Amino acid sequence: GALRDARDMPAVIAAMNSMSHVLLEARQAVYMRYDPGTDSLIASSPYGFAETVRDVRLARGQGLTWLAVTARDVMRVNDVRQDPRAVYRHETRGRAGLFAPMFSDDRLLGVLVVIRDPPFGEHDAQLARTLTAQSVTAIERAERIQSIQDGREGILLALGRALEARDFETHGHTERVVNLALAIGRALGLSDVHLAALRDGAYLHDLGKVQIPDAVLLKPGPLDDQEWKLMRSHSVAGEDLARHIPGLSPQALTLIRHHHERWDGSGYPDGLSGSAIPLLARIFSVCDVFDALTSARPYKPAWSVQGAVSELSRQAGRGLDPEVVEVFLSHVHSQPGNWPEVPASRP
Ligand code: C2E
Ligand code: SIN
Ligand code: SIN
Ligand code: FE
Ligand code: FE
Repeated sequence: GALRDARDMPAVIAAMNSMSHVLLEARQAVYMRYDPGTDSLIASSPYGFAETVRDVRLARGQGLTWLAVTARDVMRVNDVRQDPRAVYRHETRGRAGLFAPMFSDDRLLGVLVVIRDPPFGEHDAQLARTLTAQSVTAIERAERIQSIQDGREGILLALGRALEARDFETHGHTERVVNLALAIGRALGLSDVHLAALRDGAYLHDLGKVQIPDAVLLKPGPLDDQEWKLMRSHSVAGEDLARHIPGLSPQALTLIRHHHERWDGSGYPDGLSGSAIPLLARIFSVCDVFDALTSARPYKPAWSVQGAVSELSRQAGRGLDPEVVEVFLSHVHSQPGNWPEVPASRP
């Protein structure tokens, strides 16, 4: 069922809520997640409760919920509203309460709280034990997936930082472009899946520069034809290298390949133009150019934010997607405090 398919915590909680509704005829259900940092139980995605119950926090020992933790078994109460041990009894829309603690080995995960009018019987307690046992399995799986994803993101960041160190790009370039790209992606309403591809592609966009010799990469002046040809190979080289990273989405690879296409078709490697350029690459390109302009490079000093902003406007419809530039500029203007004053060298 839904529990077996749940791959992240929101999906697990949604499945628990709907199974509580179906199996236990819940009027209300809430998963109280254990937060080790504060040693408390925190309400997550309550079902049937008022919005105010969200983020409700029970410090260790508080309420019927913690009693069930101490008992380490399902606890049933026939009239929560009359029970002086209940702390949120005014929020309930039923008399009977069922509290099912959930442990992964000895680690407390949380407590499922179910409210309805008719009293719960031993049969309901049995159902709750089965439901929470399956939920524990689902949560353990979601935690494993999360930790793999965290690990992957750490590796991508490390690769990006290693590149940055060699390029003598301003420290933090990788994280800055990643954060910029995510902010613009969100402003454009991208889905979580596309945002993740945007983030991964942004970390790795210049991976292909590892094959550029120092003499070219760090050359203080303009590149000759031969050097420029080599430099332009970095987007395809990056895509080829990144193919070996397991689990990288096709959209992230596409971003790496196309991050130097230009709106007017004069970019590389494929000379795509306009909306034929994949959207993630168009979004990323605006962020990359902005950050390249405002950072010092071996071949150019840093521009002022003002100068970079006017250059982006000038590039709208030439090198860059005009709609993305517009969103980018309103983002910059909405966060004036975000931009450290870069010494102006050239407007
Ligand atoms: P990068 O330094 O990360 O720059 C990324 C992109 O930002 C550039 O892609 C370009 O679109 C934009 N950009 C950077 N600086 C300027 C600038 O002063 N004016 C304008 N209008 N745009 C700028 P592009 O041109 O495809 O270059 C790709 C990479 O090639 C650059 O990455 C850099 O590593 C290298 N490169 C480009 N021009 C030179 C150069 O004159 N000398 C050297 N040594 N390397 C260069
Ligand atoms: C609790 O007491 O732990 C919460 C349940 C309630 O007050 O209804
Ligand atoms: C771009 O490459 O997309 C615009 C910046 C430039 O003219 O180099
Ligand atoms: Fe690049
Ligand atoms: Fe870059």
